[in-house]
Amino acid sequence: MDYKEHIAGKMHIDGMSEEDILSLIATPPTSEMGDYALPCFKLAKIMRRSPAIIAQELASSYETDDVICSAEAMNGYVNFRVNKKDLTKATLSEILSKGEGYGADTVGEGKTICIDYSSVNIAKPFHIGHLSTTVIGSALYKIYKFLGYNVVGINHLGDYGTQFGKLICAYKHWGNEDLLENGGIHAINDLYVRFNTEAEDNEEMQKEAREYFRLIENHDPEAERLFNRFKDITLEYVKKIYARLNVTFDSYNGERFYTDKMQPVIDELQEKGLLIESNGAKIVDLEPYGMPPCLILRSDGASLYATRDLAAAMYRKATYDFDKCLYVVAYQQNLHFRQIFKVIELMGRPWYKDLVHVAFGMVSLEDGAMSTRKGRVVWLEDVIDKCIQKAYDVINEKNPSLENKDQVAETVGLGAVIFGALYNSRIKDITFSYDKVLSFEGETSVYVQYTCARANSVLSKAAESGLYPSVPEGYEPNVSEFDVIKGLAQLPQVIKDAAEKYEPSYVARFAVDLSQKFNKFYIDCKILTAEGDTRLFRLALCRAALITLKNSMTLLGIGVPDRM
Ligand code: ARG
Repeated sequence: MDYKEHIAGKMHIDGMSEEDILSLIATPPTSEMGDYALPCFKLAKIMRRSPAIIAQELASSYETDDVICSAEAMNGYVNFRVNKKDLTKATLSEILSKGEGYGADTVGEGKTICIDYSSVNIAKPFHIGHLSTTVIGSALYKIYKFLGYNVVGINHLGDYGTQFGKLICAYKHWGNEDLLENGGIHAINDLYVRFNTEAEDNEEMQKEAREYFRLIENHDPEAERLFNRFKDITLEYVKKIYARLNVTFDSYNGERFYTDKMQPVIDELQEKGLLIESNGAKIVDLEPYGMPPCLILRSDGASLYATRDLAAAMYRKATYDFDKCLYVVAYQQNLHFRQIFKVIELMGRPWYKDLVHVAFGMVSLEDGAMSTRKGRVVWLEDVIDKCIQKAYDVINEKNPSLENKDQVAETVGLGAVIFGALYNSRIKDITFSYDKVLSFEGETSVYVQYTCARANSVLSKAAESGLYPSVPEGYEPNVSEFDVIKGLAQLPQVIKDAAEKYEPSYVARFAVDLSQKFNKFYIDCKILTAEGDTRLFRLALCRAALITLKNSMTLLGIGVPDRM
């Protein structure tokens, strides 16, 4: 039941559509004022009367029903009250019967969404800079799935480029199979860094590196074998981290996959007269659209990142026939995506409108910037491990006798890393602080997990005495109880909004907000020592809050321990 829609549907205001009215309806700051409110200040212009008078007229002409039981004018607002008993009964019954499915929908049925996220670079560190794309992309993946969409998760691997020539050159000089076997991704990274520090001014080695790159391109067996070895080591490494973070992909088609798919794009650009020669390079002129040219081929004939992205977009459309294709990539690449979307439009593909750059801000640790070339880099795995260690220390201090402390610390630590990257609206730059993400008091996953453990503990104690949640007929909730109910009822809409705005942060904020409401109820109302229907009702509220919080966290890829 969408109350705002219900209210808007019953109001008739000249010059305003139902949509317009809907967009004005808000939630008052305190529930004493009502459950929903229509501010009349914007209406004053259209209706040429004072907001107070308009509010009075609208309130007295509003016909109440089973859903909305009163409409009252107050200081230029019409305040609406929902029928508490009905909402309470309906919300709790729905949550308890749907369980893990509460909040799911079928709006996405028959529609396909491609999501390009994480998109790691082969042989380079999987660092803190990849955290946001990985967890935002993964949360969107789960959110769209929950709404019934067919979702294709794509890891557009960075596996193309001259750096692989450098790496093979470094390996030939300083490396061997033992080194790779024992050192894995870190050994590869060391070789790359060593090349960039020691061979920077060594023309001989630079030449050698270019030659190795050419060999990979020409499918020389030894060069290709080494390249694949580096790729396998990187993938094996990142897949372990993905597993810990609950992240999955349906395709690992990276840039190299498009090697033989670029020519048709280049030919088409040529035929359509879009390809222009400029200082020996081939470009698409985007000056009329206020952008620098999109580089398609370098003067030596080599393709570029953009060329491969154009081929990838064509391939995805042809293969998946997506309704939308999202690119979860840092805002530093804003221009790149505006360029390729424009080129696709110029090529006459109407679906350019379905391409969306889901941009996000930078994550940094307190100690500042990093560079892969020089080796100053913060590995994501180290951040995760440190968070888990710190989570362990906190748990050990608060609850030393807890069983499976290691497992709980893993869930809590991973949750803190994920939630820390998801809680703010995407576009904000964030500074990652261990203490902040692991706080029991703040707007954190730990706080939400702790709230779940609390609800869980009440429910198991009740079960030990043979008491189980139920939703009594005609129960009239008090203020704190009803605040929880209203919070619970929002989840389905929150999920839809998060999908529409590509903002998993909505779900994260919802979870914190609901936890706060639940904790207020927990402090205000006795549960196990209450009596009769009240006790059973409050247990139902605990169960419903637990289900709703768990479902929210699952969408973000975060687990919820039974005990903490
Ligand atoms: N590998 C790229 C990077 O690390 C991100 C790729 C994003 N996806 C894409 N289709 N361009 O910057």
